[in-house]
Amino acid sequence: MNNSKLYSILNKEDLSKEEIVYLLSLTDKEDIQELFSKADNVRKEYCGDEIHLRGIIYFSNYCEQDCLYCGLRISNQELTRYRMTKEEILTAAGQIINEEIKSIVLQSGEDFKYDCGCISDIIKIIKENYDAAITLSLGERGFYEYDEWIIAGAESYILKHETANKNLYFKLHNKQSLGERLIHLRYMKAIGFHTGNGNLIGLPGQTLDDIADDILLAKELDCNLASFSPFIPSSKTPFHSFDKADLTLTLKTIAVARLVLKDVHIPSTMALAALDETGREKGLQVGANVLMLNFTPKPYCNNYEIYPGKNIIPGDLSSNISNLKLILERFGRKIDTDKVHH
Ligand code: 5AD
Repeated sequence: MNNSKLYSILNKEDLSKEEIVYLLSLTDKEDIQELFSKADNVRKEYCGDEIHLRGIIYFSNYCEQDCLYCGLRISNQELTRYRMTKEEILTAAGQIINEEIKSIVLQSGEDFKYDCGCISDIIKIIKENYDAAITLSLGERGFYEYDEWIIAGAESYILKHETANKNLYFKLHNKQSLGERLIHLRYMKAIGFHTGNGNLIGLPGQTLDDIADDILLAKELDCNLASFSPFIPSSKTPFHSFDKADLTLTLKTIAVARLVLKDVHIPSTMALAALDETGREKGLQVGANVLMLNFTPKPYCNNYEIYPGKNIIPGDLSSNISNLKLILERFGRKIDTDKVHH
């Protein structure tokens, strides 16, 4: 390697914020390739070759929040809203189990129509019928609700911090604050949830410093999963005319996150597929080790439109479950369909 500064940073155990920013700013193709291959090695050393599959059900696209970047925001009146019934959710869960995937993610907007007891019932019926781990991703809810859902049998909760820059966070999120979000995340972890967090890359006004802080915050929060995902502009939001995230910056972020977070689960997100046809394969080769596959039934899935085309990505791994094994074996990886626990 010609770049001795890069060489010494890539061989350090702990990275400072300055070093993280340096890695995120790399522009030389060979340097970037060195970063990617180091991240892939760290992934192999700490996590092995398994790619953990999770089946995700987007069961409601109602949301009480008004986040400037998100197509589900309450002000978006052009979106056809839906709520799935308990029976429909159970059927979709059955399809995940039929694919021998034992980890189910239930995600929705912040939709309080599904009250505490209703979510508990959904968790219980899935648990009664299937041997599956359940991850919830329902936004910020009541603390007593988190308690109840653990008792009902849910194991994990994903609540992304979105951005570690508290001023930017405040501008993007109506009513919500970064401090409050972190209180929720820390509470969930304290009561025993496996937690997931993460950011959005390429938000208007975001700097490389902010992304470095995202990675360091993920480390401090000590979650089981951290998702670093690109921003895709959504036509029905105030952010419709901003640029989508840069693919290379997104991949660099995943790679640096792997160097810093070591054994944490890092997904190759669906938004990566929206950015680039083989984006998810690329993510898996620079540090990611988790894939979420969409099992939301039609016609609902087309309306979970956080950003355009979220669920209709031709060639994406979600539409190719039968071929997934072959695709992943091509680059030396194995599928793990088990419950994902540390
Ligand atoms: N582009 C990419 N991801 C988005 N999310 C919301 N809006 C967008 C967008 N425009 C992500 C947020 C949220 C998750 C459910 O969807 O990170 O946590």
